[in-house]
Amino acid sequence: MTDKSLDPRIQKLHTMRALSKQGGGDERIQQQRAKGKLTARERLDLLLDPGSFHEIDAFVTSRSNGLGTNERTLTDGVITGWGTLEGRLVYVYSQDFTIMGGSLGAAHASKIVKVQEMALKNGAPIIGINDSGGARIQEGLASLVGYSEIFLRNTLASGVIPQISVIMGPCAGGAVYSPALTDFIFMVKNTSYMFLTGPDVVKAVTHEDVTFEQLGGAMVHNTISGVAHFASDSEGDCLYLIRQLLSYLPNNNMEEPPFKKTKDDPLRTDEALNHIVPDNPNKPYDMKDVIRRVVDDGQFLEVQEHYATNIIVGFARLGGQAVGIVANQPAVLAGVLDINASEKAARFVRFCDCFNIPLVTFEDVPGFLPGVSQEHGGIIRSGAKLLYAYCEATVPKVCVITRKAYGGAYCVLSPRATRGDLVLAWPSAELAVMGAEGAVNIIHRRELSAAEDPNAKRAELIARYQEEVTNPWVAARYGFIDDIIEPQETRPRLINALQMLRNKRDSNPPRKHGNIPL
Ligand code: HXC
Repeated sequence: MTDKSLDPRIQKLHTMRALSKQGGGDERIQQQRAKGKLTARERLDLLLDPGSFHEIDAFVTSRSNGLGTNERTLTDGVITGWGTLEGRLVYVYSQDFTIMGGSLGAAHASKIVKVQEMALKNGAPIIGINDSGGARIQEGLASLVGYSEIFLRNTLASGVIPQISVIMGPCAGGAVYSPALTDFIFMVKNTSYMFLTGPDVVKAVTHEDVTFEQLGGAMVHNTISGVAHFASDSEGDCLYLIRQLLSYLPNNNMEEPPFKKTKDDPLRTDEALNHIVPDNPNKPYDMKDVIRRVVDDGQFLEVQEHYATNIIVGFARLGGQAVGIVANQPAVLAGVLDINASEKAARFVRFCDCFNIPLVTFEDVPGFLPGVSQEHGGIIRSGAKLLYAYCEATVPKVCVITRKAYGGAYCVLSPRATRGDLVLAWPSAELAVMGAEGAVNIIHRRELSAAEDPNAKRAELIARYQEEVTNPWVAARYGFIDDIIEPQETRPRLINALQMLRNKRDSNPPRKHGNIPL
């Protein structure tokens, strides 16, 4: 309804605003809903604090002559602006599939670039919701130029502000590289997919028959490729999860992560931790149980929980302070480090270091995974990534050795010698070049083959090796570890350590950038 008393120029503004909000129109919105998807604006409403969204560039239209600068292209298929999330400023863009399939033309790209630049200049996180048919075919090379401009901003903002990508529909072709350059990728099961070349091209080139979901669905990227970090059952769940993640992150690399008061007593001990590590060193236990018993209110936000599950990474709080946790998982592949686990943890460690989030490492690692496929796959390079990430990190680094700390894996996981700030060991810790059995088989080979009863001899030598070499008292005697603690006091000791390290200052030599083994 039009208000006759209104200045016609203001009336036009109202009309244009209403038109811009219509998106691609009712029919296309119904199609969007039929696919189980929310609209671009509904997603922003759910993500941001109520009423906090401020839109810009609502009157931008397509620059393509073929499409015309008409109402149908208002917003050019992407909603951009800023708002708040738990009261904190965030910049956002949300692609609107109901307008030309959310495809990216020159104007669409310029809008994204504008909010990217504002986010970087103002030091606030950016969240991009992707739902797009990719490069707008009618605009040809201009859309590829647009993508390139976005990729550049993603790269320049890396390590300065948190960048979060949300996939809520198609994200195909080179378009995948913007999310891939950002810090975290969220996907929704059954309605989102990412791939470089779609099922038709795959069929033509490799003769493989796959569906969109099988090729690049949420669980594929959360379990097999490791491209994505979170998978949700619904768009609502996904948007809520982003809030949780952001609660651990600072707005930019010059700020500290937000502190959150807790009623969980910092001096709380947990007797169950004294019994969690089995007597038999070959028996597994669940490291997530250890983590939850130690952190504030048992709350742990796991990142990439379905990928390379032999290592655990995620965020939690200790005494209100946000921490990044890296932990071997003895319940999966005995917690061994392989290619995928090394890369997963390396990326996480680097993220925490970028954003001033202290690292707490729970270590129970029998070493690197042996095997032809690992060696040929480049475990040397992948392990070096994790080593490099820990060595390079200047945030507070505290390590708790719960059981095994063997070989090269010991060197990788935050020991004192690579600038670890504090290394605490449980009495069950075993630190050595390798496990007692392997060591005895090598250094006592001749003695064993000459023995009347090799098994009895082996058992005797293993026991001696454990007593003389692998136990934490040897490491403590040399100062390789800082203290041996009772498992039940892990929480108070960690909180105290983080307080002690609060004003830590450390830096790396000046240089353009290091050369991490990629
Ligand atoms: C222009 C596009 C478009 C595109 C979709 N549309 N993709 N318009 N450029 N890339 C339009 C459709 O014409 C249609 O318009 C509307 O969006 C909805 O599309 P539908 O096909 O009806 O939707 P759906 O059946 O859900 O299929 C979605 C889809 C399909 C799988 C994404 O649209 C599709 O395959 N699109 C093309 C994908 C593609 O090849 N993109 C280029 C990738 S290469 P109407 O008017 O009918 O509603 C790339 C390079 C980037 O992106 C390089 C960066 C470096």
